[in-house]
Amino acid sequence: MKMNYRDSYWGVYFICFGSLLSTTESTCNYPTDLQNGVWDDSQKGSITYTTTTMTGYTYSSYSSGSSIWDCHLIEGDFVVSKAQGTIDLFGSPFDAYICQKLTKITSYSYNYYLESDVQANAGNDRLNVFGTGTTVSVSQACSKTTAIPTEEFHVLVKTGKSYSNIADVKQWFPTPLLGTFEYTKVTDAGVSTCGTGSVMDVCTNRTTMTLNMTQCSSVVAYSQGEVYAVTYIVSGSTHFVVVVNPGTPDGSTYFRFSCLAVSQSGSTVTVVEKSGSCGPGQNTTLTGTGGSKYTMTPYTFTTDSPEEDSSNLGLIIGIVVALVLLIAIAAVIGYIIYKKKKKQIHVYDKHKEENANDPEYLHRGYTEMPQQTPPASNPSKPEANGNSNIEMSAQT
Ligand SMILES: *[C@@H]1O[C@H](CO)[C@@H](O)[C@H](O)[C@H]1NC(C)=O
Ligand SMILES: *[C@@H]1O[C@H](CO)[C@@H](O)[C@H](O)[C@H]1NC(C)=O
Ligand SMILES: *[C@@H]1O[C@H](CO)[C@@H](O)[C@H](O)[C@H]1NC(C)=O
Repeated sequence: MKMNYRDSYWGVYFICFGSLLSTTESTCNYPTDLQNGVWDDSQKGSITYTTTTMTGYTYSSYSSGSSIWDCHLIEGDFVVSKAQGTIDLFGSPFDAYICQKLTKITSYSYNYYLESDVQANAGNDRLNVFGTGTTVSVSQACSKTTAIPTEEFHVLVKTGKSYSNIADVKQWFPTPLLGTFEYTKVTDAGVSTCGTGSVMDVCTNRTTMTLNMTQCSSVVAYSQGEVYAVTYIVSGSTHFVVVVNPGTPDGSTYFRFSCLAVSQSGSTVTVVEKSGSCGPGQNTTLTGTGGSKYTMTPYTFTTDSPEEDSSNLGLIIGIVVALVLLIAIAAVIGYIIYKKKKKQIHVYDKHKEENANDPEYLHRGYTEMPQQTPPASNPSKPEANGNSNIEMSAQT
């Protein structure tokens, strides 16, 4: 990250002039995209960033807690923040740190893993605490005793002015979901709805899942009938897709984010949903702790090959036809020139013969050179489409 380089530069600057400025603290700035913006976090809700602070990421521990954090250190993808205020543990003050391993999806969307242990004394949040006054490095703040499950990741989506950026975060859904499906929904309480004639469309737009709420009004993915894919990861044979709801969340029926665990067996696709981030241990089995299961069969399947395929074919045919035409034109021009040249040489030879005794004639050269055919210009290559899926590598 660029930020890093600048930080280390300032670090050196402050060390050199530390005695003059009587400070040894270097400035930690959040990544440029995040700065001075309001973001929705799939785990923590609305987060406001300034250059150096993050507000809205609430934690509590032992009747202390905070929602305001300072940028502490950044190293590569690891962003360490330190909570303002301390936790009092048996009379001694402690500081809380979170370590986010950030990955950029678009300028308006990021995903991250929390690289710390689960703290039973902090509402099972992942964070690390150190005695106030301790110098805490990135590796200390990001230390953990057990690996973070691959599916336990979170996303950040920039909200902007009334969510004007929300359409910009759209990514493709994973292959098993690219199609139009009939689905049966079973709630965690065992209630079955939808079924025959129901329509889930992830085919018209491969970044958008649309439900026909007229046909079956039961809520899918905690949305009003349309969600966009933000990102997905693959763990084993299960895809974990985080979707964002462009409608209005109410915190009970409708949520901003939900996670869809997706697996495919033959042509049957199974989805189990959860509101917010994907959870550790989430899979395509209903757990009875909220969320519904969808058993889906496709009406039509589409592929994950680029949408530009058909137009590319047209372009290729166009280029081939143009090349054949160019060659034909060049051949005709060449033939005409050849004939003309032959005729001219013939005329010249005839003149020469007729004027063989004219002394001036010898100085007259053959000046009318055959015209060169213009070189065929290279047809420009079609641009590769920039729409790509971000597939995070599994981490251990
Ligand atoms: C598909 O998505 C594009 C880009 O967001 C949008 O312009 C278009 O209207 C969508 N098409 C349909 C049928 O929803
Ligand atoms: C949704 O379902 C209703 C009722 O079956 C149907 O009339 C309507 O055309 C469907 N809408 C779409 C967009 O498929
Ligand atoms: C899903 O997780 C539950 C509980 O952790 C486990 O019992 C079940 O076998 C898992 N199902 C699949 C399909 O992996």
